[in-house]
Amino acid sequence: FLIRHTETYFNVEDRIGGDPDLTGRGIEQASALARFFRNKKIPYIFTSEKSRTVQTAELIKTFQDDCTVVPLKEFNEIHAGICEGMTYDDIQRGMPDVYSARKADKYNYIYPGGEGYATMKERIQIGIKKAFYLNRRPDNIMIIGHRAVNRMILSHFLYRREEDVPYIYVPQDKFYHIVATQDKKVFELKKYA
Ligand code: G3H
Repeated sequence: FLIRHTETYFNVEDRIGGDPDLTGRGIEQASALARFFRNKKIPYIFTSEKSRTVQTAELIKTFQDDCTVVPLKEFNEIHAGICEGMTYDDIQRGMPDVYSARKADKYNYIYPGGEGYATMKERIQIGIKKAFYLNRRPDNIMIIGHRAVNRMILSHFLYRREEDVPYIYVPQDKFYHIVATQDKKVFELKKYA
């Protein structure tokens, strides 16, 4: 189950990066996720080190009998370097060069002092390996990540052209259910409330 953290104070302002908390609405969304998953066995929830993913996971954990939240640095959101904490409007107005260069090649663009989708690829793959190794049993695996991180995780399981990856739809009111076995590969975008 691939989930994006629920609404934060930065989401409301269209601000990127940072380490914001969930809003009241975000807490309600995470509680709805908890109710949705209460009858499914989730032994581990892998998150990033950021408060918003851990807070979402901790609420889901409250409805589970035996569940461990494991924050992995590999699942931290794309680091926006000098643009951390800015809104997209701020970047467009204050740093038009950054804005247009990223728009021209979003997958390969690297934020000054930060990362790009292309440079996240290796750490995301390490994170996926760690999660599958730690989970071991043939149980459900739940990852609570971020918009850019979840796009990279999805593209690991389902091939997407690089230029399309930064535009994969990753909403906060739905989650991806991925079933990937030798016989079948199913990707479903599901509502939880
Ligand atoms: O910076 C955080 C965003 O969730 C990533 O989205 O790559 O579409 O700007 P973006």
